[in-house]
Amino acid sequence: MPAIVVHTVGKSILFGEHAVVYGFPAIAVPIPDLQTTVMIFPLIGEEKETIVYEAPDLAISKNLTDLPEDNILVHAVALFRKAYGLSRIPSFRLKITSKIPVASGLGSSASVSVGVIKALSQFLGLKLPLQKINELAFELEKIHHGNPSGIDNTVVSYEKALYFIKGCDPVFLQSPLPLHLLLINSGIPSLTADVVASVKQFREQNPDLVNALFKEIGDLVNSAKNAFQNGDIAQLGTLMVKNHHLLQKLNISLPELDALVDLALQNGACGAKLCGAGRGGNVIALVKEENVHSLQQVFKSRGIQGIVSTVIQ
Ligand code: PMV
Repeated sequence: MPAIVVHTVGKSILFGEHAVVYGFPAIAVPIPDLQTTVMIFPLIGEEKETIVYEAPDLAISKNLTDLPEDNILVHAVALFRKAYGLSRIPSFRLKITSKIPVASGLGSSASVSVGVIKALSQFLGLKLPLQKINELAFELEKIHHGNPSGIDNTVVSYEKALYFIKGCDPVFLQSPLPLHLLLINSGIPSLTADVVASVKQFREQNPDLVNALFKEIGDLVNSAKNAFQNGDIAQLGTLMVKNHHLLQKLNISLPELDALVDLALQNGACGAKLCGAGRGGNVIALVKEENVHSLQQVFKSRGIQGIVSTVIQ
């Protein structure tokens, strides 16, 4: 029996990806239908401190001392030792399983980071506020993403829709009407760090163009914040499409993603855009409740697997 079981959610960026890395606002929502589970099993009777990392999805089961330096648990344990002056940690085995597809912009890494921090803090008897959990998870995110904005770990830590500006406290958003969302996986894997690096390079080569695009995205996000809080679904949909066009101009869309956006719009979606880093991953569509099923069928009939339907209340 595990002593600790923690479930964490996935996430999607509704507006403002990439510009958020440069200090512009963005809006993200939790995806509770996609979850990561982190379990900790105490190892009783070990003489030496023994920590075992198990990730069956990746076929890994190893002692901490045999893991590479960039392993998430290696970092998390080091973070806790430093932050709380822990010289010896009780022996344990930590197991991670996740339903979130990797490299698809749905927060798989943030979900694991937050899950590991939450589970370890509980195991160590530390009652950490969510703000601290989020802060520590952000440190883990930096290992894999180089220069993350922090939006992914923040939405996963708080499990609430939020308006986010890098370095500021999040503003939680509540829509008066439920928002029905479909996540459609292009099946093309994409590494966030690579796409963020390529946007950085594009900005270095074309600072005026890219800064103007970021400014336009930031303004759009502020309009989207109002539309979200007013439950103005038509306006949210229109803004999603505009955001997608701005992301195309940042060179992070692909013909495959554009085709999924077009298909969603031709079949009753109020809005659709790529979500997350781009160059692959998922498209997110905002759909009226009565059209959710038929739109899912349209995608399924085209052979698209793993469509996730979720509702933001
Ligand atoms: O991890 P993804 O694919 O959801 O992308 C994260 C969003 C970016 O704005 C591209 C990067 C960031 O750190 O905010």
